[in-house]
Amino acid sequence: MTVDLSVDLCGVRLRTPVLAASGCFGFGREMAGWVDLAALGGIVTKSVSLEPRRGRPTPRMAETPSGMLNAIGLQNPGVEAFCAGDLKFLAGAGATVVASLVGRTPGEFGRLAERLDGEPGVALVEVNLSCPNVEHRGEVFATDPAAAAEVVQAVKRATSTPVLAKLTADVTDLVAVARAVVDAGADGLTLINTLLGMAVDTGRRRPRLAAVTGGLSGPAIRPVAVRCVWQVAQALPGVPIVGTGGVVTGEDAAEFLLVGATAVAVGTGSFINPRAVVEVADGLERYLADQGAGSPAELPALFKAER
Ligand SMILES: Cc1cc2nc3c(=O)[nH]c(=O)nc-3n(C[C@H](O)[C@H](O)[C@H](O)COP(=O)(O)O)c2cc1C
Repeated sequence: MTVDLSVDLCGVRLRTPVLAASGCFGFGREMAGWVDLAALGGIVTKSVSLEPRRGRPTPRMAETPSGMLNAIGLQNPGVEAFCAGDLKFLAGAGATVVASLVGRTPGEFGRLAERLDGEPGVALVEVNLSCPNVEHRGEVFATDPAAAAEVVQAVKRATSTPVLAKLTADVTDLVAVARAVVDAGADGLTLINTLLGMAVDTGRRRPRLAAVTGGLSGPAIRPVAVRCVWQVAQALPGVPIVGTGGVVTGEDAAEFLLVGATAVAVGTGSFINPRAVVEVADGLERYLADQGAGSPAELPALFKAER
């Protein structure tokens, strides 16, 4: 059985449905010795803001059962340094680049999208909505359908590049947020960002992270992420979804594709194995062949919702 791994994500042809997730692959430079950047489905960059950010104090990471907590604090060099250096590097390496944007107001998101519009090498834009809205008491954009939609509208007005809205599962009604951002013009969704967590160093009787709380990622969150993709795919059929959360093997990727994702992104998996993005794609190819499927797009039709 010959398998064609390529997929269409919001009108962009990806070589494979396996991307590197934001914040877990830097801007590709450190990983170039391990993998051929051009062979990946795509690289979602670390989220980029208008101005450089130094991030949170250390310790910023803590290992937890089947996962980890992080509170990096969106450290990044700012959009000008990104365009002058990292983006040129990635484009030169032949990578399919998904530029992740982070702002403090809808206006900041719009300015970022405008700055990147027309920059050669950006295939898609991902809007990181898991950050505080400074105009609204620091409430995370993705927890409020109206605030999330306002950001997406600002970004869509400023760019002709397809836009993915990245949502959090830390909400009561994810479908309501997903519907709001799709109505606001999002071309696709990335589900999910990390889940808010906390771990305590019992010997020292203190939080393990300097920021006290942080984002939980890795295989521990995969069932939550799969559930989110399933619920949203059922409610909004036809909306492309990038499933994210605990993908470390080809079978993990297949779980997401079976329940309706178009692609997946590997985050924490790259910290365990720098070649994870490639190996997940290889594993998925073997899985598809075993299942008699010629392409990833055939998987949802093979899924049986009843046990
Ligand atoms: C160290 C670290 C940094 C991250 N930085 C970002 C970021 O800058 N922007 C973003 O949208 N998501 C960020 N994420 C979230 C991941 O992109 C992903 O959504 C999440 O970790 C779940 O996937 P995983 O279980 O495969 O890691 C980060 C995750 C980790 C572990």
